[in-house]
Amino acid sequence: EQALQVAIDGPASAGKSTVAKLVAKKFSYIYVDTGAMYRAVTYWAMTHQVTLTDETAVTQLMQTLTISFKPGEPEQLVFANGEDITAAIRQPDVTNNVSTIAALAKVRSILTEQQREMAAAGGIVMDGRDIGTTVLPDAEVKIFLVASAAERAKRRYTENVKKGINTPLAQLQAEIELRDHKDSTRKVSPLTQAADAVLVDTTPMSIEEVVETIANIIKKQS
Ligand code: C5P
Repeated sequence: EQALQVAIDGPASAGKSTVAKLVAKKFSYIYVDTGAMYRAVTYWAMTHQVTLTDETAVTQLMQTLTISFKPGEPEQLVFANGEDITAAIRQPDVTNNVSTIAALAKVRSILTEQQREMAAAGGIVMDGRDIGTTVLPDAEVKIFLVASAAERAKRRYTENVKKGINTPLAQLQAEIELRDHKDSTRKVSPLTQAADAVLVDTTPMSIEEVVETIANIIKKQS
C-alpha cells in the first residue's frame, strides 16, 4: 500500500481538524493542522508586540520561532519554541486576527515550505485552506469540506462552551463568515476548491459518516 498525501481544505469550523485527525489515525498517517501554524505565528506576533500587518517584522520574528506538534487528546498539542500554546491559539483574539497574518505573502511562503517538507514522504493528512491548491497540488486525495454557516457556528458554540468560552451564537456566526470572506478574497492562495477536489457537505452528516466517506475515497486511491 502506498503512503498517500491527503489534503483537506474548507472554510472555518467545517470540522476539518476533527475529521483529519480521525482519518490519519485510521490509516496510521501523520496529521498536520496547518491552521495551527498560522495561529502560532499570530499568537507569537501578538505576544511580542509586532504589528500584524508589518510583513518584514513578522517574518523576522518567525526566524526566532519553531512550531512543533505532539499527539494529544482531544486535540493535538502545539508548541512554540517548546512552550505549550495549544489553548492560547484557540482564544478568540487569536482567531479573529489570524486572517490578517495569513494574508501576508512571505509568511505563507515560509509556512508552505515547512508544510511541504512535512508531507514529502507521504502518509500524511494535512488540513487547511490552500493544501490542495498550493501546498500539495499533486496530493493523491483532495477533499473540500463544507457545511452551512449556521451549522458551523452551532458546532463551534458547543465546542467553546466545553472550553469555558462564552461568545454568543450569532456573534460566532458573524465572525466565521467574516473570516471566510477574508480567507476567500485574499490575493495569495485564497480559500478555493481545487479543480480535482471532492466536495463533501457535512451539514447533515455525523463525524463518523464524514470519516467513512473520506476513508472510502482514500481506499479507492491506494
Ligand atoms: O483551520 P483554522 O481555522 O485553525 O485556521 C485559522 C486561519 O489560518 C484561517 O482562518 C486562515 O486565515 C489561516 N489558514 C490559511 N491557510 C491554511 C490554514 C489556515 O490561510 N492552510
